Amino acid sequence: MQFTATCAPGLEEALRDELVALGLHKVEAGRQAVRFDGVLADGYRACLWSRIASRVLLHLATAYANSAKTLYAEVRRIDWSEHLGPTQTLAVEFVGGNDAIRNSRFGALKVKDAIVDRLRDAHEGERPSIDVNEPDVRVHVYLKHNRAQVSLDLSGDPLHLRGHHRDGGPAPLRENLAAGLLRYARWHELGPQGCPLVDPMCGSGTFLMEAADVLRDRAPGLSRERWGFTGWLGHEASTWQSLIDEARERDTPTAKVQVFGFDQDRTQIRRAHQNLARAGLSNDVSLQTRELADFEAPEGREVVPRGLLVTNPPYGERLGEEDEVVQLHGLLGDVLRRRCTGWTGWVLAGSPQLAKRIGLKPKRKIEVRNGALEARFCEIPIRDQAVARDT
Ligand SMILES: C[S@@+](CC[C@H](N)C(=O)[O-])C[C@H]1O[C@@H](n2cnc3c(N)ncnc32)[C@H](O)[C@@H]1O
Repeated sequence: MQFTATCAPGLEEALRDELVALGLHKVEAGRQAVRFDGVLADGYRACLWSRIASRVLLHLATAYANSAKTLYAEVRRIDWSEHLGPTQTLAVEFVGGNDAIRNSRFGALKVKDAIVDRLRDAHEGERPSIDVNEPDVRVHVYLKHNRAQVSLDLSGDPLHLRGHHRDGGPAPLRENLAAGLLRYARWHELGPQGCPLVDPMCGSGTFLMEAADVLRDRAPGLSRERWGFTGWLGHEASTWQSLIDEARERDTPTAKVQVFGFDQDRTQIRRAHQNLARAGLSNDVSLQTRELADFEAPEGREVVPRGLLVTNPPYGERLGEEDEVVQLHGLLGDVLRRRCTGWTGWVLAGSPQLAKRIGLKPKRKIEVRNGALEARFCEIPIRDQAVARDT
């Protein structure tokens, strides 16, 4: 079977790395997508364990589509009775286009007609109905030039929804963006070695929750009840159940708190507390209302990096005023230089100008999209001669 995990722009390398670490095969990064091969259990594993993917798609067919008519005919040739029954519900998601099919709604309609007509013929007039919110089967079509990739969406709801309610507050990061950035910061290696992680402007706590989940080795999908395959005729319930059993066994509360969050705004800290409680992570993370100017790094390791400071300061577009935000980036630079020696800072800056205002030369800048913003995730190692000599 061939699978495609989709992701936000800039996260392809992080996702590829994550899928390789999950033991998946023939993992290849593309644009906003990473492909892999395997059996159904591998697709299920990616659904349950990928923190970075947006969706996991199971490839069904490549349809030739130089016109709406050929798209319809090719999709109709697929044996849909293997996937859904005539009384079930269906949704079609259509992405991309070509000269003949420019409008994705029109494309989706043609695909839906082809599936429904094929099933109606096979079942004496009975046909599946459309449910865009909670369908039994979600078909995904990606059209480029004259080729349409027809897939089954195994994820259902997008995978950034972790299954517990989260109050994001005014400017939250998406869970899978936060997770991808943490992977670039190599938290999955440093965390288990005892490295602390601090977000001094934690807001609703997205970095903290993702970081704590990684330390616990808790599958991000463990609390989700519904998946894209739940109502699919090809679903292998026992395969899924054994993955769930394994994930439950692996989930281990952290022995010592290594994840710390601060924010100047009491309301944000309260929000983060509630989010952590709903996610069952209250004992894995320490939170405090604190100004960045009063920042003190928690005790670090004896090796470099002593700790990670990972943060997403306000951009000025959504929160705060521009001047304030510029000054805040300067303050962040001072805090890193003076109070985080031996640590590595990872700052998601909303623009190249703001990244410069930190006043420290990044070792690496990774371009990612944060909603509509072209953001940069800057790696800023802070030298510590004394510590560096010990390693
Ligand atoms: C873009 S939001 C962070 C969002 C967070 N990553 C999330 O996912 O919810 C920036 C946060 O910085 C906080 N902040 C702004 N200025 C601060 C300061 N001087 N000291 C501490 N926190 C500050 C704001 O209260 C806000 O919660």
